[in-house]
Amino acid sequence: MKVGVIGSGEVAKALGAGFLRHGHQVMMGTREPAKLTAWAAQNPQARVGSFADAAAFGELIVLAVKGKVAADALRLAGTENLARKTIIDAANPIEDAPPVNGVLKFFTKLDESLMEQLQREFAEANFVKAFNSVGSASMVNPQFKDGKPTMFICGNNEAAKKAISQILDQFGWEVADMGTAEAARAIEPLCMLWCIPGFLRNDWVHAFKLLT
Ligand SMILES: NC(=O)c1ccc[n+]([C@@H]2O[C@H](COP(=O)([O-])OP(=O)(O)OC[C@H]3O[C@@H](n4cnc5c(N)ncnc54)[C@H](OP(=O)(O)O)[C@@H]3O)[C@@H](O)[C@H]2O)c1
Repeated sequence: MKVGVIGSGEVAKALGAGFLRHGHQVMMGTREPAKLTAWAAQNPQARVGSFADAAAFGELIVLAVKGKVAADALRLAGTENLARKTIIDAANPIEDAPPVNGVLKFFTKLDESLMEQLQREFAEANFVKAFNSVGSASMVNPQFKDGKPTMFICGNNEAAKKAISQILDQFGWEVADMGTAEAARAIEPLCMLWCIPGFLRNDWVHAFKLLT
């Protein structure tokens, strides 16, 4: 599959490398290609372009930018380049403020998530929340002694969620589909929970598992 990754941070680099490792074609999108020089040298099969180049290239899009500017980045990517495509939304609505006793602040409220805002503005794209509640180092084929971790996903389009579930299976995850975009109100704050052991005890290696 052709994957356009919007972002140049740790998540973009981890997922971009993961898609390459699993045989997909990847174009990374950034406003500053120099940020990806070292990564591109390690991943010579990948292309690097603007947000719009990556969005136009991708049959599947990965959104991996700071939550506060996610809509700006998608506007730069171009609404027409996103229409009818699936967007993996890894972004979290983290406020520009320090955590309080290890608990991050969000700029959203509990009855409206960032993904719902993005889905409303970019209505022709199919957003699927995924990869937001685990650290970038554990996103691709993580090895935990207690077994396969669970990725909580949600989104309004069933075919898009099915496609992302197949990717997650490739990437070594069990999938828990929590329903429509509103479920992002619950999935985005999992990032807060995931980060607490990190901020309190510098423990950043863990993931969630749903037991049934
Ligand atoms: N770090 C993690 O382990 C982790 C895990 C799960 C989820 N997340 C979430 O995933 C997202 C990406 O996290 P990250 O740590 O990889 O990177 P980040 O530092 O949160 O974001 C970097 C990206 O944001 C873009 N950006 C910054 N200001 C912008 C602006 N004014 N307009 C447009 N784009 C702008 C940058 O674009 P340029 O490339 O053009 O500079 C860059 O690609 C975040 O929402 C984060 O909460 C992070």
